[in-house]
This record gives sequence, structure tokens and C-alpha cells, in this order.
Amino acid sequence: MEIVFATGNNGKLKEVREIFSDLDVKINSLNDFKENIDVIEDGKSFEENALKKAEEVQHLLKLPVISDDSGLEVEQLNRAPGIYSARYSGEDATYEKNNQKLIEELKKFQQPHLAKFVCAAAFSDGINRLVVRGEFKGQIISEARGKNGFGYDPLFLPEGLDKTSAEISSELKNKISHRAKAFNKLKEMLIENKLI
Ligand code: IMP
Repeated sequence: MEIVFATGNNGKLKEVREIFSDLDVKINSLNDFKENIDVIEDGKSFEENALKKAEEVQHLLKLPVISDDSGLEVEQLNRAPGIYSARYSGEDATYEKNNQKLIEELKKFQQPHLAKFVCAAAFSDGINRLVVRGEFKGQIISEARGKNGFGYDPLFLPEGLDKTSAEISSELKNKISHRAKAFNKLKEMLIENKLI
């Protein structure tokens, strides 16, 4: 069976392929198609955005699609940056500018800055739609540490660890992350519902 993962991010593709590797499914990404696909993420939640991506790409390619939407929620910032995580510091956002803005915003508050990464993973085959959520809890520290991962990883100290998610190995992060949890859940539901 062939499934399309609605992403152009090869890092995410590798993680998700690994999660589905014990099943007889071939997972392609948007990079494998010539169509220029750009889904506007204008939903009000991670779940809405992930479902929108899965359904629009399914409609275009006529194949079963999995998708995700993720971000960081910080308690003291009323769950910001949330669904706006990628563009937190503005239109010309970079990971570094986003991290700098996060450090600045949190200076007004006392430690610990409790936070979590959230990932919604969705599926659509044109008839059935599924969406699930995975969370990765921790706190935000005030100085970046580590070179692995991406995005807010250098500032994120996972619960129970003394290393940031940019200091741990990608193997460990792929076991405990919000994305790993969401896609493992989605996989179980697809199997239960005999959709793969
Ligand atoms: P998207 O799901 O690719 O749209 O990710 C949204 C944004 O959330 C990214 O640009 C990152 O800033 C942040 N983000 C999501 N997952 C992670 C993660 O595992 N580590 C660090 N940042 C993340």
C-alpha cells in the first residue's frame, strides 16, 4: 500500500518511515510528486491544520495521506507561540530569531517556564478521517544548549532529563517526542480500523 506524507521535510519523513517500518506500506512525501502543493495553514488548532493538510492533499493526489502540524506551547505565555510557532518572530522568522524572542518574552516570568511540544497527526483517504495528538512535556531554559534537532530544541529541557532536546540523540528524541507519540497513536488507529 502507498501512503503520501504531506510534508517536504526529509527529517520528518525519516522519523515517520521508521515508525511505519514494520508494516507493508510505502511512504512517499510531497517531494516525490511534480504537483506544486501548498496548503494554507489557517486553522485554529493543530488538529484543524493537520486535517486540512491531509484532506487537501488527498483530494489532489487521490491517494491516502498522513500529515502533521506541530508547535510549542508555553504555560506562562498562555500557550503561545502555539500554532504560530514557525512564525513567532514575524514574517522573516528564523529558528534563532524565534528562540531569541522566546527568551525575551520569558524574562518577565519566574522559572520554571513549563512548556510542551504538541503534534497533531492526521489521516485521510477521501472517506475516512482520523486525527490524534501527541505531547512532549518539559520547560524552557534561558540559554540555548545543543546542536541537534531544530527549532526550539536548544531551549527545551524535557521532563526528567538534564539535557535539552538539542543535546539528546535523534534516536532518543524520536522515541519520546510529540511527533513520535502522535504517529505511533495514528498507526495503531489505522491498524484497528483496518485502514492499512
Ligand atoms: P511544523 O509542524 O513543521 O509547522 O512546525 C512548526 C514549528 O514548531 C517549527 O517551525 C518549530 O519552530 C516548532 N517545532 C515543532 N516541532 C518541533 C521540535 O520537535 N523541536 C523544536 N521545534 C519544533
